[in-house]
Amino acid sequence: MRIFVVGSGVVGTATGKGLLEAGNQVTFVDVAPERVSFLQGLGLDARAELDLRAERDSFIFLTLPTPNVGSRYDLSAFVAGTRGVGQALRVSGGRHTVVVRSTVDPGTTDGLVGPLLEQESGLRQGDGFLLASNPEFLRAASAAEDFRWPWMTVIGSRNRRVQERLAELFAPFGGSLRIFDDPMTAEFVKCAHNLFNATKISFWNEMYTVADRLRLDLGAIADTVSRSAEASFNPAYGTRGGAPYGGVCLPKDTMAFLGFAAGVGVDMPILRSVIETNSRFVDRADLGDRGDLDVSEGTDGVDAVDYFQEPLPGRSGAADRGLGSTGRGTRAAVLAAEAGERGVRWSTNEIRAADEIPRHATDPFGLESTDGTQR
Ligand SMILES: NC(=O)c1ccc[n+]([C@@H]2O[C@H](COP(=O)([O-])OP(=O)(O)OC[C@H]3O[C@@H](n4cnc5c(N)ncnc54)[C@H](O)[C@@H]3O)[C@@H](O)[C@H]2O)c1
Repeated sequence: MRIFVVGSGVVGTATGKGLLEAGNQVTFVDVAPERVSFLQGLGLDARAELDLRAERDSFIFLTLPTPNVGSRYDLSAFVAGTRGVGQALRVSGGRHTVVVRSTVDPGTTDGLVGPLLEQESGLRQGDGFLLASNPEFLRAASAAEDFRWPWMTVIGSRNRRVQERLAELFAPFGGSLRIFDDPMTAEFVKCAHNLFNATKISFWNEMYTVADRLRLDLGAIADTVSRSAEASFNPAYGTRGGAPYGGVCLPKDTMAFLGFAAGVGVDMPILRSVIETNSRFVDRADLGDRGDLDVSEGTDGVDAVDYFQEPLPGRSGAADRGLGSTGRGTRAAVLAAEAGERGVRWSTNEIRAADEIPRHATDPFGLESTDGTQR
């Protein structure tokens, strides 16, 4: 069985070379003549056009470019390449599997690739050809290594046999394997993966701006938080869609830090969005409580609870949403900032004010002992 890689740039080359090293027959296809020459110069089988006439059941990986134009993908190259595959399918006697590896909107494999291939080939999906999504997680800087040693392989296909064959193809590379029964879920995984990474980077850039204003070393702070915050190290934390955060700490602390940052002259759009997003889910939960929302449909866990703790009995919703007081350290910082002391490192005394904040009596994560108040 031959593997064709259509679009032989960063991802296509890493994919094709990795599969070649694992003992497969691989043909690279690319519209750019210089790319084809370059790959041929490396001794690889590279061509300008896809020719399936000698093949019966190949895998055809689409690793075509999907750049953005504003807030949408420019799919012109992706569509052109997919049409080319459809035309090659038309004159092929076999039953091939087209695997979308490009990053695309959820729904593209079923909603665009399938219909385009049917249109160009005259074949029916599931009968004349098969479809799968297998998004790529590699990083451009270490593309070849990331392909050879993946920590995660994701496959989405409606066809059980396609799932099994792709799993076999990637088995030699190791890592976790996640198989979904539809391509759209796999496509969504890839989008969420990138968005999560982007959000984390921007979060720490925003925190860097505040830390820098205080002349603090963000590296040491981030290194500590990456080990202290459950959201960093617990895969289950915060992933229960539909449930806002609540309890006595996250709502007030997000609000208070927004004010603190403003006090030292830093706007925090991500933190503001976090608070805004949470209030929307709290409102949904409130609607659910009043019976205006059918919580039985897709709103699992809408009660405003912390992921690890219930709100304290008797706390009002307003208090839980962070409308309470700021701590002494915060107030000192804000006052100092208002007095024009921006960029001045806070004195030890002011920092110590934070020590008055009560903490856990028991210490689930090996931190210092505390007095029993929920975080
Ligand atoms: N680069 C990365 O780090 C990375 C990581 C994960 C996913 N991705 C995704 O993978 C996809 C490919 O990205 P890339 O970085 O490899 O792009 P790239 O620009 O490096 O390569 C794309 C290749 O496709 C060729 N091409 C364009 N139109 C064609 C057509 N009609 N027929 C055949 N070949 C055609 C181009 O000549 C080019 O060589 C994108 O969807 C991207 O978002 C990229």
